[in-house]
Amino acid sequence: MTSAVQLDFLDLRHFSAQHLRPLLEEESALWRQRLRWDYRNSASLVLQYVESHLLSGYVALDQGRVSGYIFCVYESNKAVIGDVFASRHGIDEETATGVELQLIDRLLETLQHTPGLRRVEAQLLLHPHGMHREPFERSGFQLYPRLFLEMNLRNIDPSPVLAQDEIEWAGGGRYRRWVASDFDLAPQVITSSYAGHIDSEINDQYLSASGTQRFLHNIVRFPGCGIFEPEASWVLADPSDHKLYGLLLCSRVSAEIGHVTQICVLPEFQGKGVGRKLLELCSASMQIRGCEAITLTVTEQNLAAVGLYQKLGYRVQHRFDAMLWFRDTR
Ligand SMILES: CC(C)(COP(=O)(O)OP(=O)(O)OC[C@H]1O[C@@H](n2cnc3c(N)ncnc32)[C@H](O)[C@@H]1OP(=O)(O)O)[C@@H](O)C(=O)NCCC(=O)NCCS
Repeated sequence: MTSAVQLDFLDLRHFSAQHLRPLLEEESALWRQRLRWDYRNSASLVLQYVESHLLSGYVALDQGRVSGYIFCVYESNKAVIGDVFASRHGIDEETATGVELQLIDRLLETLQHTPGLRRVEAQLLLHPHGMHREPFERSGFQLYPRLFLEMNLRNIDPSPVLAQDEIEWAGGGRYRRWVASDFDLAPQVITSSYAGHIDSEINDQYLSASGTQRFLHNIVRFPGCGIFEPEASWVLADPSDHKLYGLLLCSRVSAEIGHVTQICVLPEFQGKGVGRKLLELCSASMQIRGCEAITLTVTEQNLAAVGLYQKLGYRVQHRFDAMLWFRDTR
């Protein structure tokens, strides 16, 4: 196939899991190669939703063969683009990217013409920064470069967490591992930590208690981003244990890789070493649990967080883009 070949685009809801499975298997291999993530659980969730016709999006067909797909999910008046991927079989990266760009164009046109839809968010973690910017910028999206960082755990000393389950904090309160009831305490620390923050511009879930609960549900109860690891997820709780000052959530994204899906500290407790301690406790916990490395993502503009991660030994492996569009209703 060359970029000149005419593709057909059909609604994703015309397809069943078996049509998309080979494409998702190929995509899973690319996740493994680029990010060391095991994407197979996420792929099988996507296939379940495709089978139930729950996802909106498009499939690109090259002479009847499935060569790419894009999907989004709706959350009230917002759409989140979950993924775009085109097969690399027998074609070069540039041609595959061309298919992805056409899929993006189709979906953006549909979304921007959907009555009542006020906001579209996308984070294309698999794809390098800038690769898909053109259709997004042309459609009025703002781009936010984000970093994918990794820290090697081989030289981490796990002794701080081997001996104890709780650690007193000099400012009052204590560090302890995540327990199920933290699910109800976590929204408050997340919404307060992200008030006026660049990340709540990109992802408006952080702005409300209901959005934060949806975020937590995806991370903690649902394998939306790896398998949640409560043993490596730590909080700083106040002395009564009824309030959290800070938290870190960690999931396992492959047999040997942990991923920090959330870290935040209440503004009044920032800059006191809490974030650093949460990261150290998580690293030691994941090392004990057989992991080789920990990854996380951070918005490039979030200089305080990037600085902290780099001090702790996290190194940039990949740059990708988050995109945001909202309808100007003035
Ligand atoms: C990022 C966050 C979790 C860090 O937690 P924290 O408790 O404030 O961080 P700490 O006090 O442990 O450490 C801050 C470290 O970063 C360094 N740092 C702070 N601002 C910095 C900057 N602009 N550039 C470089 N380093 C910076 C500090 O010097 C300190 O290093 P030190 O321990 O060697 O002195 C916290 O600021 C937060 O919740 N921010 C809002 C939510 C957020 O951005 N989360 C991360 C999303 S990826």
